[in-house]
Amino acid sequence: MTGDGQQERQRALLDNIPDMAWLKDRKSRYLAVNSAYLKVVGLPEQEVIGKAPSEVWPPEIANVYLRTDRAVLKSGRRRRYEESRPDNNGEPRWFETIKAPIRNEAGRIVGTVGISRDITERRAAEDELRRSRSQLRELSSYLQSVREEERTRISRELHDELGQALTAMKIQLTWIRDHLFSSPDVLRLHIDRLVSVADRSVTDLRRIAADLRPIMLDELGLVSAIKWLTQNSTEMSGLDVSLSFDREDIAYSKDVSTGVFRIVQESLTNALRHGHARQVDISARHVADELQLEIVDDGYGIDNVILPRDGLGLVGMRERAFSLGGSIDVSGATHSGTRVSVRIPLHVSEEVRTGR
Ligand SMILES: Nc1ncnc2c1ncn2[C@@H]1O[C@H](COP(=O)(O)OP(=O)(O)OP(=O)(O)O)[C@@H](O)[C@H]1O
Ligand SMILES: [Mg+2]
Repeated sequence: MTGDGQQERQRALLDNIPDMAWLKDRKSRYLAVNSAYLKVVGLPEQEVIGKAPSEVWPPEIANVYLRTDRAVLKSGRRRRYEESRPDNNGEPRWFETIKAPIRNEAGRIVGTVGISRDITERRAAEDELRRSRSQLRELSSYLQSVREEERTRISRELHDELGQALTAMKIQLTWIRDHLFSSPDVLRLHIDRLVSVADRSVTDLRRIAADLRPIMLDELGLVSAIKWLTQNSTEMSGLDVSLSFDREDIAYSKDVSTGVFRIVQESLTNALRHGHARQVDISARHVADELQLEIVDDGYGIDNVILPRDGLGLVGMRERAFSLGGSIDVSGATHSGTRVSVRIPLHVSEEVRTGR
């Protein structure tokens, strides 16, 4: 093989590596570099070959390269490390660099070979993954504590309201049993009390059950449940809610109904609690097998620039939308309200109810 042929092969090998690659002698002088390398340093090949790192890179970076070259030469082993370096626009980027010794036939180390790969996007993806994992862990422990709180609240309501009512009824019934031969007027008085306690209990029970899961969600469907929810918000807080659905004849799957209902519920709560909104517009459109829902409030507005990351309501909403194969976007600007846009794909199981 001629010397030239060898060089061409070396060139072909180096230039087909998409990452930066180089060969250096024992003094860290560049023997060969590939085109990816030249592109990054922005120099022609003749200004790199034979040069030391300090003639190619800024001093602080060159020092690192010299140190790592020496470590490889000294240990005779391959090293892998991650380093940060600004790109040509001054933006920091991350690189994974591998350096290894080159040995001659006698086994003596004559230089080093290096490859450096830009892993900025990979690191960003890893960071994002770590962040979302920790958010999910937080969400799951939050859900646990919410469940405990819910149980405590329900147990208290059952105990305080229904427990008391049943005790009152028992007292009335015992009285009636012991006074069966009293005058009908007196008996009627006690029975009337009994009926009114029973009436109140039915109302309480309905409220407790509806707070847990509105019955109309399963029986009358999503649209009715959202109507009930908005009426409730209006009664409780004076919030003015407008509702517009382009179709009300779709029987959504239970998962979709629950997910969308909870998203609307959290959005209304947030609009009131954080936005101090007075008006909320909820609109739903069905476009090509997709439910598109918008919840727009006229409150202070969620700040997009410093979109808060700590709230679990928004995380929960996002998770619900994702788990239904959909997406959610929460946007807003200070003093111009908040807009929650949800898209949920509908499947064959979402039958169209006919004849209604
Ligand atoms: N409609 C809104 N208007 C104004 N700010 C909002 C709105 N929705 C959310 N925010 C802001 O986003 C933050 C996060 O909301 P998120 O629902 O995730 O949490 P939270 O409501 O604070 O607590 P929770 O976990 O009980 O829901 C809120 O603290 C608030 O600052
Ligand atoms: Mg919230």
